[in-house]
Amino acid sequence: MMMKIDKKMSEAAWAILAENDRGGYTVPTAHLYPFQWNWDSAFVAIGFATYDIDRAYRELERLAEGQWDDGMIPHIIFHAPSDTYFPGPEVWGTRHRIPTSGITQPPVFGMALRQVHEAASAAGRPDAVERTRKLFQNALRSHRWWLRARDPEGTGLVSILHPWESGSDNSPAWDEALKRVPTSTKTTIRRKDTGHVDAAMRPRDEDYQRFIHLVDVYRECEWDPARQWEAAPFKIADVQMTGILARSTADLLILAQSLSSPEERGELERMHQVLTEGLARRWRQDLSRFVSRDLVSHRDVEAPTQACFIPLVALTLDDQQRRAIRSEIKRWLDGMVVGVPSTAPFSPAFEPKRYWRGPVWAVVNWLISDGLRMNGSEDLAREIEQGTVQAIERAGFCEYFDPTTGEGLGGGTFSWTAAAYLVLSQRS
Ligand code: DGY
Repeated sequence: MMMKIDKKMSEAAWAILAENDRGGYTVPTAHLYPFQWNWDSAFVAIGFATYDIDRAYRELERLAEGQWDDGMIPHIIFHAPSDTYFPGPEVWGTRHRIPTSGITQPPVFGMALRQVHEAASAAGRPDAVERTRKLFQNALRSHRWWLRARDPEGTGLVSILHPWESGSDNSPAWDEALKRVPTSTKTTIRRKDTGHVDAAMRPRDEDYQRFIHLVDVYRECEWDPARQWEAAPFKIADVQMTGILARSTADLLILAQSLSSPEERGELERMHQVLTEGLARRWRQDLSRFVSRDLVSHRDVEAPTQACFIPLVALTLDDQQRRAIRSEIKRWLDGMVVGVPSTAPFSPAFEPKRYWRGPVWAVVNWLISDGLRMNGSEDLAREIEQGTVQAIERAGFCEYFDPTTGEGLGGGTFSWTAAAYLVLSQRS
């Protein structure tokens, strides 16, 4: 059955992306997130690719302006000042030519570049090859950074040094590790988020103290990756991050067939092999999920969160794993008005309204359904996509949704939710 594309909703999605445009880049939502965010923008570029290819390229090009000389693409690019967000550039104290944060976010960039390139080629755009080629080099440099800076021991899993890097800031997956991070800060905390959104949906003050403690530690390392790696009180080899990196690497490899040298193709193939092997080792049959590893406590992260399903976007599972994951996802969907919850409803940590502790994110569903489809679960992929589209049609382009009621929560006119709608509503 084809999903019905609602013209009014598509127009509303375009209007949100236009409203959140700040000159070639899109803020996630006004006030709450008033700058360019890394993975938000990459998803938004895929959304733009459904109707405005030039703008899709621009989104990635503006993100690439923030790339550091060492290859890292930061999580926030502060293209223009705003006083509605904390922590701003003065807290990060980085030295890039455009002010940026000092940490990164999931590298959806490579996935987005492939989608944008394919849309541009299908539309016969004469600038496609040249623009893609430049961005391909940005992506490749960023992947090299990931492996060098965040897997210096070559385990095949890349680590996050701050919960904000995961994009799923307040997930129960970080609870144990975050507890070890002191609440003391050298920076005075002036939260702005709770002035825009109900505090009951946001991280707690204590979480913010620990988040800022980590920023203080890394700023004192002068953002040097090797020093940060040594000093990090929070270090998690993350299956969500590695899954996205491995998938982006596969997408870059496809682009590399026509756009790159044999040496770079070989390099990407090696990266892909290392990452997929590392990821495959994180399967826990007893839990029917992939699990991250805490590199400080040397323990598996067993909290049941959406991250456990993200490796599907990068791996070909065997039949036993497919069956196990399918029934695990169905267990999480059971009794929910909309799925997939970001924390399993049977977990004691489940909070259906609080940031990353239960709510449903459209972009997460986009990744999970991609991964399910790649692994032969077309029906479940479609169920999740249709549920997402319907949730947006009912509640609007909110930041996220309460799985138990379908209520829209967080920021109101969210760019990546608009992008997800444009992409998922077009899927057959
Ligand atoms: C925030 O400030 O809540 C962001 O998610 C950090 O990236």
